[in-house]
Amino acid sequence: MPDRLIDLRSDTLTMPTPEMRRAMAEAELGDDVFHEDPTVNRLEALAAERLGKEAAVLVTSGTQGNLVGVVSHTQRGDEVICGDQSHVFHYEVAGCAVVGSVQLRTVPNVDGMIDPEVVRAAIRPPDIHAPRTAVVCIENTHNRNGGVALTPEQTASVAAVAHERGVPVHLDGARVFNAAVALGVDVRLLTAPVDSVTFCLSKGLAAPVGSVLCGSKEYIQVARKYRKLLGGGMREAGIIAAAGVVALSTMVDRLAEDHANAHRLAEGLANIPGIEIDPKTVQTNLVFFDVTSPVGAPTLVAGLRDRGVSCMVSYGRRIRMVTHYGIERSDIEHTLRAVQEILVGVPVGAR
Ligand SMILES: Cc1ncc(COP(=O)(O)O)c(C=O)c1O
Repeated sequence: MPDRLIDLRSDTLTMPTPEMRRAMAEAELGDDVFHEDPTVNRLEALAAERLGKEAAVLVTSGTQGNLVGVVSHTQRGDEVICGDQSHVFHYEVAGCAVVGSVQLRTVPNVDGMIDPEVVRAAIRPPDIHAPRTAVVCIENTHNRNGGVALTPEQTASVAAVAHERGVPVHLDGARVFNAAVALGVDVRLLTAPVDSVTFCLSKGLAAPVGSVLCGSKEYIQVARKYRKLLGGGMREAGIIAAAGVVALSTMVDRLAEDHANAHRLAEGLANIPGIEIDPKTVQTNLVFFDVTSPVGAPTLVAGLRDRGVSCMVSYGRRIRMVTHYGIERSDIEHTLRAVQEILVGVPVGAR
């Protein structure tokens, strides 16, 4: 048994680094609703600069970032185009409908992408009977599609058809730094084609709380008002932002380690009878695989828990494992031995 739980359920489980904890303790603070928190201001300036946008606003979570991000583009009765496997559609409690009074219209997601021609056809012409298409949402990396990274060209191709019709594009970039690292490109190439982008500090970048929404100055002014409406004006939020500054400054390049661990995990799993996975589809830190063994996914998850590894059934026979800061190569090897033991009865290397 490992001396601690190897928790592969999510990269949101990352704990702050010692440098983050020090920065939080020593952060210069003010009231952020008055724009007077120097540490929040520093984080917002840094985030805007890193993503190549004019301005940024700290929000509480990725969900709040998408909600504020979408409704700041829309009016009551508008329509939002998004992927049918997108996070905003599946996992955000219909917030855009509840708060923004907009309807989500889904188009198929294939390998994280939405087809520009399908988007073109879905954008409504002006018509007294139809809602106005107000924004197109994309997601990078794409969670339900296995953490795949959209390239700058893919991003630009969706943005081009939206912009042709005067429709802005919002990027759910919860893990956009994972995409940039996996593709080996400056993140700005992934954000330049879009009008707004939100990214999470609290996932692979290991900060305890927070996301940042970036866009034009004018747009971020609107977004600040929606953030306030949602109760996201957090006063001395520099405590949180201090960790965010450390996250952005020190934690981006190391995401490559998580990706390498995810690859090793995928390759090891592919060699275990009763598991179905194509390691080539694992591009970043999310590993999805199917349990074809009669043992079944729930029993595998329970057996792993008994062996010090935590993970989740995603849906049906599909399990998700996520690599992140705090998960070492030896943890991956332990996990593979445990899976082998549960499904085949003999630990790897014991034959
Ligand atoms: C792609 C994507 N967008 C948004 C979110 C929401 O982030 P949060 O959990 O901070 O609300 C997540 C969370 O896992 C995500 O994977």
